Amino acid sequence: MLSLNLRFILILAIAAFCASSQLAAHAADEPVLELVLPNQQQKLARNNLLRHPEIRTITIDDDPVYHRSMTYRAIPLKAIVRQVSAIDTLQVVATDGFVANIRGELLRAEAEPWIAIEPANAPWPERKPGSGSAGAFYLVWLHPEKAGITSEQWPFQIASLRNVEALTVRYPQLLPKLAATDTRYASVQRGLPLFTTHCASCHRMNGGGDAAIGPDLNLPANPTEYFQESWLRKLIRDPASVRHWAQSSVPGFSEKTLNEDELDDLLAYLQQMAQQRH
Ligand code: HEC
Repeated sequence: MLSLNLRFILILAIAAFCASSQLAAHAADEPVLELVLPNQQQKLARNNLLRHPEIRTITIDDDPVYHRSMTYRAIPLKAIVRQVSAIDTLQVVATDGFVANIRGELLRAEAEPWIAIEPANAPWPERKPGSGSAGAFYLVWLHPEKAGITSEQWPFQIASLRNVEALTVRYPQLLPKLAATDTRYASVQRGLPLFTTHCASCHRMNGGGDAAIGPDLNLPANPTEYFQESWLRKLIRDPASVRHWAQSSVPGFSEKTLNEDELDDLLAYLQQMAQQRH
């Protein structure tokens, strides 16, 4: 009799445990946007954001992730971030380890950043087969041309938004050290922000940086040392024209994103960094 009762209690306990863990699993599936910002530490659930009073339907004509016109449910960033004026650098961390550092003044310029939110019942298309969509949270710009916003400044699959100091303040080993009288000085100086905007979202330099999706571009060796320059240029413009495999994730930088002069400056910066390895 006792053993029957015990068995019954055990079954009930197991049933209750299964039900509660299913609930927990369900809650864990619900995407959350974490904010670590001035006077604002929050975790915002997708469902709540989709009911935000300032949510709108917006159209992005030339979406850099989908390469076509896209329509999203989205909220202006300034309706989510309480003190945009207090942001030094907005660090946007994606679930795959991509990290964009966006200067605060770009958020305040006329480019108009919005957070697009992927509804559970109306999922966005996959970016490419097997790679998932850009959701649940994707930073889009209504007028990117007004502040020179580049394709690396459209982070998708966002996990968190943080206020941080600029990358070069946190990692001074990114700074080139050469005399202002050096003939390469101006070019190298122009190359630094090109590196932090286009490359540092995936690569470190001298061990410094937020992301490590691709290799460090100076440690143990610098690609300007082990690639012939013409091949390195090809690799940056169109990686698949040099080597190709399914899992490769380095993007190509066309002349639209990085013109020839800018590529010269970026290479000047990389060459300089090879001289000052940490
Ligand atoms: C979205 C992430 C991402 C961005 C942005 C990115 N890379 Fe990469 N890069 C990678 C990954 C990942 C690899 C490793 C190889 C691969 O997946 O194709 C790589 C490989 C490379 C290599 C080859 C290194 C080697 O030793 O094989 C070079 C050189 C390189 N990247 C340069 C750059 C430069 C310069 C920029 C900026 C203009 C840049 N990358 C931007 C992800 C990125």
